Amino acid sequence: MAEDVGGTEGYAAEADDLFARYESLAAQDVHRAVLHLLPSAPARVLDIGAGTGRDAAWFAAQGHQVVAVEPTDALRLRAMTLHPSPRIAWVDDSLPELAALRARHDPFDLIMMTAVLMHLDADERARAMPNVASLLAPKGLLIMRLRHGPVPPGRRMFDVAAEDVTALAAPLGLRCVFEHHGGSLGMQNHSAGVTWTTLALVRSDRA
Ligand SMILES: C[S@@+](CC[C@H](N)C(=O)[O-])C[C@H]1O[C@@H](n2cnc3c(N)ncnc32)[C@H](O)[C@@H]1O
Repeated sequence: MAEDVGGTEGYAAEADDLFARYESLAAQDVHRAVLHLLPSAPARVLDIGAGTGRDAAWFAAQGHQVVAVEPTDALRLRAMTLHPSPRIAWVDDSLPELAALRARHDPFDLIMMTAVLMHLDADERARAMPNVASLLAPKGLLIMRLRHGPVPPGRRMFDVAAEDVTALAAPLGLRCVFEHHGGSLGMQNHSAGVTWTTLALVRSDRA
C-alpha cells in the first residue's frame, strides 16, 4: 500500500531517521497527560498510524492485545521485527476507510491516533471519523494527538484544531472528556516550535 495512501508522503524515504527519533521517546512520556485515563490490562487496543511500533510494544508489554495499523511498509515491516510480540497484530490498512479493520468487526476499548489525523485533509477527516467511531466499544476511549507547527519538507499535513475534531465527533455521539496542550519532547520538534493537542473522547451516552 504505502506511498499512494494520502498522509504517508515522506515517511518511507525517512524511515531510518524516524526509527531513531520515534524510538528515542518513551511511550509513557509521550502519553503522560492521559495515563490516568488509560484502561487497565487486558484491554483491546487499536493504534492507528502505529509508525515504528513504540506505543504498540508499550501497550503489549502491559498485557493489552494490540492491533497496530500502519500503511507505510518501510515502517510496518521493520516495526514487526523490532517489536516482536504475540500480543501485537500488525495490519496494512489506512484512514480514512480502514477497510480491512472494519471487515473484522472487532470493537476496541482504546483507540490511539497519535500524530496521524492531521495528515488527512478536511474531506478525509470527515470520512475517517465515522469509521473510527464504528470501531470503538460502548465504553471505549479514543485518544488523539494533533501536531501543530511547521510542516517538515516532503510531508503532507494540515493544522487541525481540537474544535475541528469535536465538530466531527459530536454528530457521531462522541464527546471530548479531556483536552491538553503542550510542547514537544523530541529535540527536533522542540527546536522547530512544534506543539501538540491531546484529546480524549468517549461515547456521549457513557456514564
Ligand atoms: C508522525 S507518525 C506517528 C507514528 C506513531 N503514532 C508515533 O507516535 O510515533 C504518523 C504515522 O501515521 C501514518 N499515516 C500517515 N497517513 C496515514 C493514513 N492515511 N492512515 C493511517 N496511517 C497513516 C504514517 O505512515 C506514520 O507512521
